[in-house]
Amino acid sequence: SATILAACTFGSASAADLVVGFSQIGSESGWRAAETTLTKQQAEQRGIDLKFADAQQKQENQIKAIRSFIAQGVNAILLAPVVATGWDEVLQEAKDAEIPVILLDRTVDAPKELYLTAVTSDLVHEGNVAGKWLVDTVAGKSCNVVELQGTTGSSPAIDRKKGFEAALAGKDNLKIVRSQTGDFTRTKGKEVMESFLKAEDGGKNICALYAHNDDMAVGAIQAIKEAGLKPGKDILVVSIDAVPDIFQAMAAGEANATVELTPNMAGPAFDVLATYLKDGKEPAKWIQTESKLYTQADDPMKVYEEKKGLGY
Ligand code: AHR
Repeated sequence: SATILAACTFGSASAADLVVGFSQIGSESGWRAAETTLTKQQAEQRGIDLKFADAQQKQENQIKAIRSFIAQGVNAILLAPVVATGWDEVLQEAKDAEIPVILLDRTVDAPKELYLTAVTSDLVHEGNVAGKWLVDTVAGKSCNVVELQGTTGSSPAIDRKKGFEAALAGKDNLKIVRSQTGDFTRTKGKEVMESFLKAEDGGKNICALYAHNDDMAVGAIQAIKEAGLKPGKDILVVSIDAVPDIFQAMAAGEANATVELTPNMAGPAFDVLATYLKDGKEPAKWIQTESKLYTQADDPMKVYEEKKGLGY
């Protein structure tokens, strides 16, 4: 069973004198950049010496970084895994060196005993929340949906797709007509949306966009405007993350809904790590963060202002 945390838990367990390696994916999105900022802040607040490695979207760089952390004899490793598979060997190496590994924000297809815990949202649920919002919003009207997927092979891309499809199952009025990766970036989101618009009669055949993150949605919104259509009205826009920029788009009526993912994965990770290293108490295998739906009814400008201070 998972421990469920509120979106903004900033714990402050003492973990001074610890050296922790953090293998980060890169900086593909606003959310990712905020996670990096908050991880550094959370480490500093606790007196943790954080060794940061940016993998530039490459699993091989993450594997190298983990090996280097092991060689340096760090006390623990935080890993945000770019893709879900291919981790068994290096996780086993960390285990053999008795260095606990905590997964941040994405899951892996590896035996659970190879890592201490995973601080993540319920990624399938996030997709499901987005899908249910769309089902309710179109209220039985016929609707062609286009989908911008996250990084191919990443757990959020796989699970957010699964959850969204489950919400649409049996709803004959809703059909996913195009689905392609936009790699979680604004640039790719815009580029792929342009191709969707071209292929679907300049966008006239598209009723909604589901993007696996807000950054791709923001890029796609630009593409929709350039095609002479109104995002948020002609084409509904639902995405995931709840970064400040999507609230600006919502305030302008150009985006409709987003599902929040807290960028503070490190706070809870450091808290359980401190307890584990002190008492040997194993945490739950999954520390689940909240997934809250925001719509245009939630005073988007107010949320935008609140979000700005939280790592963004
Ligand atoms: O793993 C979390 C996802 O990775 C975020 O939703 C996305 O913005 C990021 O790139």
